[in-house]
Amino acid sequence: AHQWRGVINEYAQYLPIEPGDPVVTLGEGGTPLVEAPALSERTGATVYLKVEGANPTGSFKDRGMTMAVSKVAAGGRALVLCASTGNTSASAAAYAARAGLPCAVVLPAGKIAAGKLAQAIVHGATLVSLEGNFDDGLRVVRELGRREDVALVNSVNPYRLQGQKTAAFEIVDALGDAPTIHVLPVGNAGNISAYWMGYREYLAAGRSSRTPVMWGVQADGSAPFVKGEPVENPETIATAIRIGNPASWDLAVAAREESGGRIDAVSDAEILDAQALVSREVGVFVEPASAASVAGLLARAAAGDVPAGATIVCTVTGNGLKDTATALGSTPIDPVVVPATTVAVAEALGLA
Ligand code: F0G
Repeated sequence: AHQWRGVINEYAQYLPIEPGDPVVTLGEGGTPLVEAPALSERTGATVYLKVEGANPTGSFKDRGMTMAVSKVAAGGRALVLCASTGNTSASAAAYAARAGLPCAVVLPAGKIAAGKLAQAIVHGATLVSLEGNFDDGLRVVRELGRREDVALVNSVNPYRLQGQKTAAFEIVDALGDAPTIHVLPVGNAGNISAYWMGYREYLAAGRSSRTPVMWGVQADGSAPFVKGEPVENPETIATAIRIGNPASWDLAVAAREESGGRIDAVSDAEILDAQALVSREVGVFVEPASAASVAGLLARAAAGDVPAGATIVCTVTGNGLKDTATALGSTPIDPVVVPATTVAVAEALGLA
């Protein structure tokens, strides 16, 4: 029987892990690459979704967190600390719990989806609610991270990107080569940088014949790469990417330039439309930030920028269950209640 062993065990030869290092894993990675005919039809390409919401804590962050927390555990005991828009904190809390390490998370007050907040709480992290946004939180935890007794696990921790690059490996392993275009949402810009590193390393290792063109997608109100400078007060319904001053600025610009790619922005309305489309026609429930990548792809297709016959992978970074409130919007959950009889149910279904 084949049991996926987590990204460190599966890709050890490509990762900076020393023999004897503890491996703190929840079996992350090995996520489905799902063909999306509804998107292929609309773009004239062959489109796949890399469904990162299938990771143990429901987002791609687990790939980086297994590396980062394994390294913290190797070094002894320290407080696992991060600032987060929600997913990093959920992942840090889970992996710290698994390692038996204390964890604290710094979160912009009132801007974290309920599911993500619940995750940090159930895994036992200490929550600090900040009067400020993610960028403010990151500034603070970077300063605290200088302490010996604190281990910063935001993506400025280089082990995070090392772990996250394994998603690119999995895509090449599944398709037999790199896609022609890779689309993903951009917030703090760690993930686009990690994918680009992964694709380049696999090319250098002879595992692929090419690297993809990288297309990053931001939300209109939080689009520093489109503006060309940091955004002071970022806003978007996609709270995961509500970030104005990305830490991995230079790496993301390099990914864009070296791959001949682009970073665009989409509106909140386009994000919600894409989320609904992917839910109803592909059958995958993704969170709003993840739907930004799909919205970006559809916008490029509408502009005629998608080459016919391209193979496109869109990373959908987080699970829709983390933020049901945004997905439901004004749709109330109040199903018709009927007696427990076949007749009543058939009537409710219009089958009577
Ligand atoms: N999609 C989701 C669901 C995210 O949670 C994030 C980032 C991104 C996309 C953007 O990735 O930052 O590497 O460019 N979330 C971070 C967090 C900031 O704190 O959970 P990025």
